[in-house]
Amino acid sequence: MAKVTIDGIEIEVPDGTTILQAARMIGGDIVPPAMCYYSKLKTSGGYCRTCLVKVSKGSEKDPRPMPKPVASCRTTVMDGMEVLNITSPEVLEARAGVVEMLLLNHPLDCPVCDQAGECHLQDLAYEHGKAETRYEFPRREFEKIDIGDKVQLHMTRCIMCFRCVKVADQITDGRVHGVINRGDAAEISTYIEKAIDNDFSGNVIDVCPVGALTDKTFRFKSRVWYTKPVDAHRDCPTCSGNVRLWYKGEDVARVTARKDTYGEAEEWICNSCRFDHKKTSDWVIEGPTKVDRHSVISANHYENLRMLKASIDRQRESLPHGDKVNLGTGALDPNNEEK
Ligand code: SF4
Ligand code: FES
Repeated sequence: MAKVTIDGIEIEVPDGTTILQAARMIGGDIVPPAMCYYSKLKTSGGYCRTCLVKVSKGSEKDPRPMPKPVASCRTTVMDGMEVLNITSPEVLEARAGVVEMLLLNHPLDCPVCDQAGECHLQDLAYEHGKAETRYEFPRREFEKIDIGDKVQLHMTRCIMCFRCVKVADQITDGRVHGVINRGDAAEISTYIEKAIDNDFSGNVIDVCPVGALTDKTFRFKSRVWYTKPVDAHRDCPTCSGNVRLWYKGEDVARVTARKDTYGEAEEWICNSCRFDHKKTSDWVIEGPTKVDRHSVISANHYENLRMLKASIDRQRESLPHGDKVNLGTGALDPNNEEK
């Protein structure tokens, strides 16, 4: 076991744990963002540098600080290590630089991108980015490649995180796509432009942190914040059948894997669940998905009303003599029961 301190919070973790994993065990704001690391994909991480942290003390045995910021997803903890993330202005500045670099070639097409509202780069840019760009050169352009009837590739949005390549390598039968060329000419492509066509290929959509790989069957159908997610399952012979349905009105607009706090799929789902079962009658509905209140997806989410009411009740209890406050009408009205 090794004791590590991250932003002043100490935790004991098994040997071999990375700084990022240790931070996730602590949880909360001190967890570095991760655009390429994916806990369920072997050898992921080490490509994007968004998870940079400062190691101010190497270990009990060798307390020297590390000379430059390190990728927390690829650096294992040592006993006595001290790490700074959000408490280090140097780290925040380095991260802003990484975001600026990721955005050099990324188009600012959020208003028409299907990933908007659940894009990790959008969140990262909002939290760490700068409002202006210093880049004066033309952005990268690519030949359009059709990778099949289910998945849409927008190469200009790709940040080369390699997650989709690892999904194809590790969870599908035969990988037919990968990264070709090197440096700023690197791009995701299918060998001889073959369609990605196997039972689990749709998972590349869920792992892509940006809008480079999106669901063709959901394309331009709705902004994500107009949909309502519910958790559901079916008896599937190929995968666990545990999914998230995204409703637009009465219709299932899309089916995805269930994602955890860090935006990672809890379980991989098969293409049949994802693309071929879009009727409510195909599924056993478990109930509304718990959505983080700060997510744009929480807009109009009826689970929120319950949370809002609970928090209003708590505030009320803390008022002297249970005084009433005028909280207006609508969702903020404490008498507004969830439907
Ligand atoms: S297409 Fe998406 S998942 Fe694949 S490397 Fe690019 S950004 Fe990563
Ligand atoms: S998440 Fe660590 S380098 Fe990308």
